[in-house]
Amino acid sequence: PKAWTVPMLADAKRDGRRLVMLTCYDAGFARTMDAAGIDLVLIGDSLGMVVQGHNSTLPVSVSDVAYHTACVARGLSQALLVADLPFQSDATPERALEASTALLQAGAAMVKLEGAGHKLEVIRFLVEREIPVCAHLGLTPQSVLRLGGYKVQGRDEAAAARLREDARAVQDAGAALLVLECVPTPVAAAITADLRIPTIGIGAGPQCDGQVLVLHDLLGVNSGHRRPKFVKDFLAEGGSIDGAFQAYAAAVREGRFPDEAHSYAS
Ligand code: KIV
Ligand code: NA
Repeated sequence: PKAWTVPMLADAKRDGRRLVMLTCYDAGFARTMDAAGIDLVLIGDSLGMVVQGHNSTLPVSVSDVAYHTACVARGLSQALLVADLPFQSDATPERALEASTALLQAGAAMVKLEGAGHKLEVIRFLVEREIPVCAHLGLTPQSVLRLGGYKVQGRDEAAAARLREDARAVQDAGAALLVLECVPTPVAAAITADLRIPTIGIGAGPQCDGQVLVLHDLLGVNSGHRRPKFVKDFLAEGGSIDGAFQAYAAAVREGRFPDEAHSYAS
């Protein structure tokens, strides 16, 4: 298979090929994911919770993400590597450029940042400077203090309309990919139909253009938190780590995951 590049993401959406994404933090898992045909690998700031043991993503630094990005990059030959801009590293265009440069120099092909609003200017600034950007809307974990917890977003009419506007806006600002986290199935479906760029869902129903899960959740590793509804333990089904990755990839590509039991209907 051909190694993934950023322009291939839009091609996949046009051809109706679903994208399979997992988070990853080290070279060994990266090698196993790459061999199992995982399309996109995310160095998520979830590393603050699942690797570092914090109870939010807020303590994660750019150098933490850069370190794990470099580890993962050494294990990949096919998958596209996306790295998270951690809390406040994207607060201004200049800070975001500096942080993104470090992540791309560590081996990422794209950076991900949360939100719209003032982040639209940040997205434009990065894209104009040859840095591919993945947006992230819905439940944005870096907003946990304002939100007061990790909750489904876009549930009422007004919030759903705002989410649809934000999705249009991040695409117009130049984002090449959009993660939708904890959004009701019909809202994510409407956004996916509305956009030219692929959507990647996590707790956002089966109609997104692709899916992402946190590695530790997929393997049933104890994260110290209540397991959210959208998480499925694919190790039980796949029988081995490689088998779990292949079972997850097949379920996503065939539209079997997530099912209703792992989605929010409203
Ligand atoms: O940090 C992370 O793992 C993420 C995914 C849940 C999308 O942002
Ligand atoms: Na993240």
